[in-house]
Amino acid sequence: MRDTAKTEAILTWYDRHARDMPWRVSPADKKAGVRPDPYRVWMSEIMLQQTTVAAVTDYFNRFTSRWPTVQHLAEAEDADVMAMWAGLGYYARARNLLKCARAVVALGGFPQTYDALLKLPGIGPYTAAAVASIAFDEAAPVMDGNVERVMARVYDEHTPLPAAKPVLYDHTATLTPQDRPGDYAQAVMDLGATICTPRNPACGICPWRDICQAQMNGTAAELPKKTPKKPKPTRHGIVYIARRGDGAFLLETRPDKGLLGGMLGWPTSDWSDAPTPAPPFDADWQKHPEQALHTFTHFHLKLDIMVACVGDIVPDRGTFHPKHRFQPADLPTVMRKAFDLCQGTWRND
Ligand code: ADE
Repeated sequence: MRDTAKTEAILTWYDRHARDMPWRVSPADKKAGVRPDPYRVWMSEIMLQQTTVAAVTDYFNRFTSRWPTVQHLAEAEDADVMAMWAGLGYYARARNLLKCARAVVALGGFPQTYDALLKLPGIGPYTAAAVASIAFDEAAPVMDGNVERVMARVYDEHTPLPAAKPVLYDHTATLTPQDRPGDYAQAVMDLGATICTPRNPACGICPWRDICQAQMNGTAAELPKKTPKKPKPTRHGIVYIARRGDGAFLLETRPDKGLLGGMLGWPTSDWSDAPTPAPPFDADWQKHPEQALHTFTHFHLKLDIMVACVGDIVPDRGTFHPKHRFQPADLPTVMRKAFDLCQGTWRND
């Protein structure tokens, strides 16, 4: 089959089976002339990096209700954006989201090409290609994990990832059409999410079953091959949860650089093999019997939880947040886990 015929086959499938997503313009609406909103396309693509559609949808709806345009977002308070992002993870994305919104407003709107989008904060090759193709119809090849898997199977590529990325990218580039490149990219992503799944691919209903070399060779389920990852190390740390008699909690905004940068959280020690205790003030700190466990991209973390109930003290770091202004949902997941574990400590007041 010619490459154009392959592309047509998947676009025809997409016309019928495109998933409904709040940032998408359906193929029928696009044909009727509706244009995707670059702000919504950009926001969704930033959120979808490392995160599933199911996890992103509620966050996307909350963000775009509160900040309906890039101008609104550019004018938002940093702390409000970080709080709204809490729970989605990879917090550098949220800091860059704001930086990028401000840069876009300074430019007078979203740049419309891959090259110009790539210059914006937080926009790498994947996001630049996704926004350029979906929002502006530029035939920039879009490759994420789903697309890699589909390409590895269609071309029966046995080189393990990540070494296979350049060759898979070349296949992606060959197949990306000049006409409807954004729909094509989203079609392959949808195929990867719904039919060409990591386990038990549904080859029988795949629009590419007749051209897929792995399907013909019976190798689909074992692809893509992956170079085994090094096991993650475990780090240790200590969190300090202080509650004042009036119900206020001591929280600290973490430095912009580093993990959970810019997020609100409990004061903590360093996270290492042997953390140095770093209480935010002297008190009768009580060790909670359980640890909070969390896994980041490169390590597992085990946090001891120290709890103190205090009077009207002045802490060395952080600020007390009055009861009515403290929302556990504003905390990143690891901090939320520590809080949830010691809820019982305050249950009776
Ligand atoms: N994953 C990342 N971006 C996507 C999109 N636009 N459609 C489907 N899945 C995606």
